[in-house]
Amino acid sequence: MASMASLSASYPKYTSNFPTRYTHLLYDLCLVPRNLPLVKKLSFSDLTIVRSSNQTESMIDSTDKLSDIPLLSCLEAIEKLKRNRENNKGNQQYLAMYSSIFGGIVTDEAAMVIPMDDHMVHRGHGVFDTAIIANRHLYELDQHVDRIVKSATMAKIILPFDRETIQRILIQTVSVSKCINGSLRYWISAGPGEFQLSTSGCHQPALYAIVIEDKSLFDSKGIKVVTSSIPMKPPQFATMKSVNYLPNALSKMEAEEKGAYAAIWLDDDGFVAEGPSMNVAFITKEKEMLMPKIDKILNGCTAKRVLTLAEGLVREGKLRRIRVDNVSVDEGKSADEMMLIGSGVLVRPVIQWDEQVIGDGKEGPITKTLLNFILEDMKSGPSSVRVPVPY
Ligand SMILES: Cc1ncc(COP(=O)(O)O)c(C=O)c1O
Repeated sequence: MASMASLSASYPKYTSNFPTRYTHLLYDLCLVPRNLPLVKKLSFSDLTIVRSSNQTESMIDSTDKLSDIPLLSCLEAIEKLKRNRENNKGNQQYLAMYSSIFGGIVTDEAAMVIPMDDHMVHRGHGVFDTAIIANRHLYELDQHVDRIVKSATMAKIILPFDRETIQRILIQTVSVSKCINGSLRYWISAGPGEFQLSTSGCHQPALYAIVIEDKSLFDSKGIKVVTSSIPMKPPQFATMKSVNYLPNALSKMEAEEKGAYAAIWLDDDGFVAEGPSMNVAFITKEKEMLMPKIDKILNGCTAKRVLTLAEGLVREGKLRRIRVDNVSVDEGKSADEMMLIGSGVLVRPVIQWDEQVIGDGKEGPITKTLLNFILEDMKSGPSSVRVPVPY
């Protein structure tokens, strides 16, 4: 690729159709030398002719082809962002965003942006986590904050604030949003600064958080899964929640293309691992609850809680025991019940894996009971799993 070391810009005649109240922005953004007056029409091709030191030809040609691309002022770009948001409303509403770059919270969706030169954006070097907002409480917030702190350490990202401050900012962001039900998603990155591969140009780590409203109820309908053909991440990366979710996204898309809800990964030894954003568990014919070990997969907060709540079923005699172990595909496919577990699905019954119908092909009774346990826990569980949000 041509070296960009010496860039030169030539500024032919300056004519502008910009409202005069914005012209200072062109000067401030260094797009126009201050000694040149702005008169009438100005086009992108007039303004930007970039040459590399190795090239005699312009890299961006001054032809009419580019003249339909407008040069926007900062205010105009924000206006476009606002309009873009209004025209592309999805099912989700983003109620509030915290950014350590602003040092504050915004509620206007157009302002919910991340700098282009953040190491997380251009190198995928960032970590994230999600906690459910249920009935004005953050479910398992402590556990999710513990995990992002661990993920950040594994990704060699220095925390932007101490743990307590991070937690306080997250609660305050939800508080400002007035969200009753939804989710809180948050990221830690090395922050903005230069486009280097290492973080040497990043001076200040960043924290971002967004509150997403979700009024839909958790679905308990049985779903189909397939075995993923997309390779799973090696343990070093699968055990941290980094923003590198390309294999996860491709795996989910593969499932959807096959008419399934999710694709299940098998590890290098052929044992059942996890789904693209959830853990898996089984109820065997011997009434054992069986869950894969967590040494090669993400240590799911929901799965851990389900294991604790399932102990009640062992006490009642409905489960013989709980076992966290290697799970072979045969063992999984011949189980009475299979379930997906995670913050996004809670506990979701699986009724078919590839061509194999699981159990009697209906939502398993123990799976349904565990879903009800989690729903109840979200409503009235102990303070260790429910952090109240002041509104
Ligand atoms: C790969 C993966 N495994 C498991 C989980 C489940 O974790 P949790 O229950 O903490 O949401 C997630 C959650 O996003 C995930 O991305």
